[in-house]
Amino acid sequence: MKSLTASLAIAMIAMTVLITSSFAQDAPEGFTSLFDGKSVDGWEQKNGTATYEVVDGTVKGTTAEGSPNSFLCTTKEFGDFELHFEVKCDPELNSGVQIRSVSKPDYKKGRVHGPQVEIAGLTKVSGFVYSEGTGRGWISQTRTEHSNYKKDDWNKYRVVAQGNRVQTWINGESVEDLEIPAVEPVKGFIGLQVHGIGKKAGPFSVQWKNIFIKELVAEAGAAAEETDKSNAKEGTREGKAMHGTPVVDGKIDDIWKDVPALMTNRDVEIENTLEEGQKLATASVKCLWDDGHLYCLAEVKDDKIGTESFDDWAQDSVEFFVDENMSKSSPYDDDDAQYRTSAAGAETYGASTDGENYTSKVTKVDGGYIVEACIKLKTEVGKKIGFDVQVNNDPGTGFRGSIAKWNDATNNTWESMSGVGVLELVK
Ligand code: BGC
Ligand code: CA
Repeated sequence: MKSLTASLAIAMIAMTVLITSSFAQDAPEGFTSLFDGKSVDGWEQKNGTATYEVVDGTVKGTTAEGSPNSFLCTTKEFGDFELHFEVKCDPELNSGVQIRSVSKPDYKKGRVHGPQVEIAGLTKVSGFVYSEGTGRGWISQTRTEHSNYKKDDWNKYRVVAQGNRVQTWINGESVEDLEIPAVEPVKGFIGLQVHGIGKKAGPFSVQWKNIFIKELVAEAGAAAEETDKSNAKEGTREGKAMHGTPVVDGKIDDIWKDVPALMTNRDVEIENTLEEGQKLATASVKCLWDDGHLYCLAEVKDDKIGTESFDDWAQDSVEFFVDENMSKSSPYDDDDAQYRTSAAGAETYGASTDGENYTSKVTKVDGGYIVEACIKLKTEVGKKIGFDVQVNNDPGTGFRGSIAKWNDATNNTWESMSGVGVLELVK
């Protein structure tokens, strides 16, 4: 009898372990888990009065009426790291994850402050970085709206902080890659925010799970470069062009606002000769279409503009590739084209491309430039076309130091359409 009860107890324990472990995943190789799925050991609450509890292997934060911002913070501090977590947040609630953050009695009575990676269901700027508690506002100066964040669902975040560079991804798509100003703290806790709410509001909640961290050596750029490369190994990207006609003047009209962005950030490794301190130039690209035209808006991040090289393709420039019948042909067929606009506004084309079908306008902005272009389609296209974007970067040497692509991580798109991505023309 006794042994039966004992084995029953063991079976029950085993079941509980099974149930719990189905929520809490094992840390990926090289990572440590910050949350064990059962307790908030290793964490402490600061500032507001929101409640944090462990529910079904997640840590769940719930708002308290009239409370200021609350934070559940690691007791340990981190400087350079790669952080992974999953989060699900009520759409009405604003949240975020503090990195390198601090709380000091002599600064606003312990107010938690430092960089925060945004989590927000109502705006499309999740993943951008905000300077919490300092009054300095957004650290991400450009916040191109995107749809990588799934409202009211679980979202996988990845944050790489190394030296003064912070990069973020949501659900595998790059969102931010920026230089953190020296005024922000360089080391501190990771903090899970439940935003403050007014009286008679809420309750709203936010849940986190699978919070893993890997500490990085503070070697300039090395790990960050590696993450860009791993990104290049993911499969064929599919993007959407929305229906509409912009004015092609290099200014961002309202019509671009709700168009999802294609992150042109795949590192064409083989062409990359960047040296320490030089950065990959990337772009966030939006597409619109109407009868017979494709419109592209590329917002390029490039901290140093160089358009002196003898070769057009070695100058800071953006290239658009169109494979109208999606045949991925190599070499180009009649329906294929390669168009290029330099940061100085010069238009050039691939050898078999007719420039008559292309117009573009360039605007220089802080930290880069904008290319807005109109491509006249040559054939009657279906619902999908083959498409790619390339950002050429002269890091100030007079030579091309890097190429970033939307889809094809090789440098072959100028002669072969075999690696292009898919653009759906949405009506
Ligand atoms: C490529 C260059 C090539 C050029 C030809 C560019 O897209 O990156 O390597 O020589 O096209 O137009
Ligand atoms: Ca450049």
